[in-house]
Amino acid sequence: MKISIINGPNLNLLGRREPGVYGSQSFDDYLGTLRNQFPDIEIEYFQSNIEGELVTELQRAGFANDGIVLNPAAYTHTSVAIGDAVAAIPAPVVEVHISNVHAREDFRKLSHVSAKAKGSIFGLGLMGYELAIRYILNLSKEAGK
Ligand code: DQA
Repeated sequence: MKISIINGPNLNLLGRREPGVYGSQSFDDYLGTLRNQFPDIEIEYFQSNIEGELVTELQRAGFANDGIVLNPAAYTHTSVAIGDAVAAIPAPVVEVHISNVHAREDFRKLSHVSAKAKGSIFGLGLMGYELAIRYILNLSKEAGK
């Protein structure tokens, strides 16, 4: 069982970036906790600030892995290419946003990914990643994997 977490631009700064919005924990730190929580699954992690690299990784992981937890960050609101990549791959994708994008600026209410994803989680902080993994695990259990 292999699940990918793919994070978009500026999420490499978690812990240092607007802690009032995104919290004070770094993603590397949180990833360690997540991997301990799910010792039986392989959790791959990819982060990029570059749109095309995110598309390439979605294409790769989307045909290789059992599911993807995707936080496209600001590209959520602008990238037709990332939305198209999510639609193109067979792996189920769960969209995660740390902050409640619907309680913020209007431009954050548009997502090019939501309609192509299995579902979306927003506003639950880093816990959204854990919940997304639990959902993907449940899906594969239902499929008898
Ligand atoms: C974000 C929300 C986006 O609007 C923002 O551009 C981000 C992070 C979140 O996780 O809350 O960079 O995806």
